[in-house]
Amino acid sequence: MITNTELEYKGNLYPSGLISYEHDQDTINFISKNGVRLQVTVLRDNMLRFRYATNGIFENDFSYAIDEDNLHGFSHLDVSEDETHIIITTEKIICKVAKDDLRVGTYELNGKPILEDEQGFHWEETFEFGGNFVKMSKMSRDQENYFGLGDKPTNFNLKGKRLSLWNTDQYAFAKDTAELYKAVPFYMGLHGNSAYGIFFDNTFKTHFDFCHERRNVTSFWADGGEMNYYFIYGPQMSDVLTSYTDLTGKPELPPMWALGFHQCKWSYYPESKVKEIASKFRELNFPCDAIYLDIDYMDGFRCFTWNKEYFPDPKRMVKELESDGFKTVAIIDPGIKIDLNYSVFKEALENDYFCRRADGPYMRGKVWPGECYFPDFTRPEVREWWSSLYREIIGEIGVKGIWNDMNEPAVMEVPGKTFPLDVRHDFDGHPCSHRKAHNVYGMQMARATYEGVKKFNFPKRPFIITRANYSGGQRYTSTWTGDNVATWEHLWLANVQIQRLCMSGMSFAGSDIGGFAEQPSGELFTRWLQLGIFHPFCRVHSSGDHGEQEPWFFGEDVLEITRKYVELRYQLLPYLYTAFQKYVEEGTPILKPLVYYDQEDVQTHYRADEFIFGNQILVCPVQEPNVQGRRMYIPRGKWYNFWNDKLVTGGKEMWVDAPLDIIPIYIKEGAIIPKYPVQQYVDEVKMEEMSLDIYYKIGKENSEFYEDSHDGYEYRQGIYSHRTFKFTGKEGEMIIQQHKQGKFSAPYTTFKLKFHGMPFEIKRVFFENEEVNVEDLHYDKENQTMIVHKDFSELHIVGNSNGNTAE
Ligand code: GLC
Repeated sequence: MITNTELEYKGNLYPSGLISYEHDQDTINFISKNGVRLQVTVLRDNMLRFRYATNGIFENDFSYAIDEDNLHGFSHLDVSEDETHIIITTEKIICKVAKDDLRVGTYELNGKPILEDEQGFHWEETFEFGGNFVKMSKMSRDQENYFGLGDKPTNFNLKGKRLSLWNTDQYAFAKDTAELYKAVPFYMGLHGNSAYGIFFDNTFKTHFDFCHERRNVTSFWADGGEMNYYFIYGPQMSDVLTSYTDLTGKPELPPMWALGFHQCKWSYYPESKVKEIASKFRELNFPCDAIYLDIDYMDGFRCFTWNKEYFPDPKRMVKELESDGFKTVAIIDPGIKIDLNYSVFKEALENDYFCRRADGPYMRGKVWPGECYFPDFTRPEVREWWSSLYREIIGEIGVKGIWNDMNEPAVMEVPGKTFPLDVRHDFDGHPCSHRKAHNVYGMQMARATYEGVKKFNFPKRPFIITRANYSGGQRYTSTWTGDNVATWEHLWLANVQIQRLCMSGMSFAGSDIGGFAEQPSGELFTRWLQLGIFHPFCRVHSSGDHGEQEPWFFGEDVLEITRKYVELRYQLLPYLYTAFQKYVEEGTPILKPLVYYDQEDVQTHYRADEFIFGNQILVCPVQEPNVQGRRMYIPRGKWYNFWNDKLVTGGKEMWVDAPLDIIPIYIKEGAIIPKYPVQQYVDEVKMEEMSLDIYYKIGKENSEFYEDSHDGYEYRQGIYSHRTFKFTGKEGEMIIQQHKQGKFSAPYTTFKLKFHGMPFEIKRVFFENEEVNVEDLHYDKENQTMIVHKDFSELHIVGNSNGNTAE
């Protein structure tokens, strides 16, 4: 046998000088003397794709990540050359390819470097598997910082880190664990107030080094496949991120109940327990929209079956829960128990749907049900079949959401905790080994689940949650951060991880509130829930081995406080839903880390605690025990303390009080925040009136408010309402203008306006340009409220100024 070491080790290989290049429409092909082909495709004025083939021959161009509906097209492209470079110019950037070694640099139109190759593309041949390790190194500029990469449990700013992407089941992971459940090979670099993004669309194990090995060099490489990456220019991080999300896709709107509070545990069973938990929420007036069934609802952990002893009539149970306002979400894992009396197993076997080892046997591995085979979700027929399996559970029984777990894929008691690398996959007609398919296995499972749930739940919207995912998987599913631990450090991690997922195109994310492993103290649970209500996905989950984790378990005080926060989430649902719609339409992250919010302010580059929820609410969790407050950074601008309406001027760090019942929350001045009354679950009550909280400012601020019927697809026929509010404040005066789009007619007719920080007494009011009496608008001076018709277009208030002061 020849071993690697006996072969001639060629080390790193590099492209040599250019011999020719040709340009057709949007693509420029470069050939080097040693046969390397570089293909640069201009997708948009700010987005270029780079592919390298070491022997001039590209693999079939196929990607699971790229959304076929992504926008492309550019307004300008010019290709020229000088003595040393071929120069590609678009309306936004210049890209230069060096004639002597194909090294690439990208520049702003004024010549300022954005990102330049250090060694650039190079590779190492791999005899054992064939193909190459493909590598890229780039210069890092002074003060350059890095953000992104999905769910990594490490500092928010990635500078100095070396990380790899290989989906892994990491029970009770720790800070800095290198590999976690998801692979999102996308990061953003920021220097000199300009940002760019790199999306390395390679599903093999990938590696990223952000100035860890060498101070001024950042590199990324993969254990196989092609050097195939997208360069996206900002200069704003928001430009980069929305372009990336456009490229890899956005989800559809979830049903609004999916944004409510969810309660989960491993496991609630039998039926009487599920009911008991559900009733307790109602009895205690603690809002909740969904309850989860973990693996014990199944018959011997066989997916798509029910344990009839514990759940004799699931359809009835689901219906009864639903009539009490609870949606049922059930878990489905990829491992299918080897059992010839089990129809799902038999069907897959007969149709040859299971993954096989290189030499032919089926891939066999132990998961919850014992020995299992695993469907090859990278085969279209298998996905089709898998989606058809949801007919009963969704279509007939009425379960409303599906939770896909263990899909890294996780295998117990084996080295590497996953499939052996020789396992074969179809990869949608591009047969390959597990080395290439591993990181997309979970994504393709979630995709098949999404198709099935969507089909059988139609005309209602599907809700899917997955543990493993790959870039682009946000089109199909929400996600959570996996098996965390009930520690303060994990609360910190949850905050960083959800912000990072939002910065990686996957906004619909949350953590197991309170921690999955071990048990939180009442204090930790409270602090975690105070943060969790601001996460797009909000669920308490725990392994159950260490005791209970329902909000009432920790005593009266914790119950009171956590209820107040879950109520706040329900009040803020229209605001969150609006932010979600913006994510769906434009790819805007639902949580905005401060660096994203204000990249110009270098103070934000190393900040990770504070974030903006939606567009105008600043939140800073308390992440330590026994404190009465903390220091936090208030970003530039003026902000109202949510708890006492005191106005503060940002751009500085300050002490904020935060006893156990307070999480620091600030509202941007000028904001108009839509609020529902508290409900026990979404659509419990018919909305009689909508509140708008108006935060006075001298100057202008726009706010948005999106609504539709909360479920179903009528919004796609224009049955939605999108309101834009323009706030203009002057000394002793304010004007609120409304512009409405869409045909949805909300059930309420009026807005209750609540004024915050209005520094004057109202003297005159003009409604739709006519002067009216304040009494006509039911002005309540004490509470500073007023009632107006929801479709008003202008409200103009004049008072006498007493000034408005900020700390
Ligand atoms: C995995 C999941 C966890 C689930 C458990 C049992 O550990 O991450 O959320 O409760 O499996 O299904």
